[in-house]
Amino acid sequence: MDSITNTNFDVEGLLSFGAKALGAGVESESRWEIPTDHPDPIDLAVGMPAPDKIPMESLANHFSKVLLSGNPAELEYEYGRGKVDLRELLNDPANGFTTLSQTPDNFILFNGGSGCMESFCATFLDPGDIVLVEGPSFSGTVETVLKFQGRIIEVPVSKDGMSLESIEEIVSSCKKNGEVIKAIYTINDFHNPTGITMSLHNRQMIGELALNNGIIILEDATYSGLFFDEIPPPDIYSVNQGEGVLRMGTFSKTIATGLRLGWLQGSSEVINVIRKTRSDMGNVPFIQTAVANFIQSSEYSSHVNTMRSLYKAQCKSLSDSLKFQCSDYLDFVEPKGGFFLWLKCLSVGSGELTEAASKEGLIFPDGSLFYQDPSFHDNHIRLAFSGNSVERLDEVGLRLRKAFEKLLD
Ligand SMILES: Cc1ncc(COP(=O)(O)O)c(C=O)c1O
Repeated sequence: MDSITNTNFDVEGLLSFGAKALGAGVESESRWEIPTDHPDPIDLAVGMPAPDKIPMESLANHFSKVLLSGNPAELEYEYGRGKVDLRELLNDPANGFTTLSQTPDNFILFNGGSGCMESFCATFLDPGDIVLVEGPSFSGTVETVLKFQGRIIEVPVSKDGMSLESIEEIVSSCKKNGEVIKAIYTINDFHNPTGITMSLHNRQMIGELALNNGIIILEDATYSGLFFDEIPPPDIYSVNQGEGVLRMGTFSKTIATGLRLGWLQGSSEVINVIRKTRSDMGNVPFIQTAVANFIQSSEYSSHVNTMRSLYKAQCKSLSDSLKFQCSDYLDFVEPKGGFFLWLKCLSVGSGELTEAASKEGLIFPDGSLFYQDPSFHDNHIRLAFSGNSVERLDEVGLRLRKAFEKLLD
């Protein structure tokens, strides 16, 4: 087909504003793809569960049981909120997905957290509407907002999470200018990319401020279950008793990214509205039932417990190796959960470090990829520890030190 030239067919000219905003018509290399000739690279780029710990056998067992049950509904459209068995389990605080138990109808299942985000934008965003996000933030969310022609405003982050003062300033200046802030999106537990967990005080204040100003909070709980020792502070959803907040979760990081199974928790009014804007004909029923059975069998909780200990050990191995080898070159705070170390480069530019490190066989993104406004970027890199063994992570410090030394030579 590519060999046929049709001069009337101008793909670029046909693109939506949203697709153009994502640069869909422009040939460019992804800055996420960092080439290396190193014979034994260590990939620290993507935040994904440890690949050799995906519970393949248990999942295969549950998938085949569901399919062999012969119930055709497991492979038919499920247009509504998704399988009630799984929503009931999500609603039960004993399973650790929520602390505010309401009804299964306060949940709707989507194609991962990303599916939740698309649905949220389709339901609430008009072109030009503002969404406040942490600066830096998860690039997938920022791109989804841009695709729906929303506007992103980045809010600086401190050790307590999003800056309250900045949010107050932005809200009051937008009010003056007649600009609509629709939502505050926050990854308040083990934030991607910074690893920060928002303080309870900030959660309470942001929850109150949003309610008083008619702004929806979208609380992204993607990493919330992956604490190392202590459960994070109460979520904004429970602090606000569900009012004005949507909480989004996913099995991508606790089980496997390819399940494509996530959920939104919200007031029944909001969930009903979102249900009406759904146009994907539902997602995969047999996966929902199999995951429900996996949870009910208690294999899920023992799997997540194992993963928490593993990620804690991985984080420690990487942190120790960096402290031992690179303490003159890097500054960082160890996270208390999640997948990421966010490191400030002290003596060289993060962009040049990213390139020099690839020659030493270390693949990771420059921190600038997590900002929309480059002026926010403060010379960081992000290292994901979740996909590598403790032994491999122990090698990272030395390799990175070599990269620093070559740059500073
Ligand atoms: C903070 C955050 N939210 C959402 C997602 C997307 O998750 P899912 O695979 O469920 O779409 C990611 C993936 O990296 C993430 O880091």
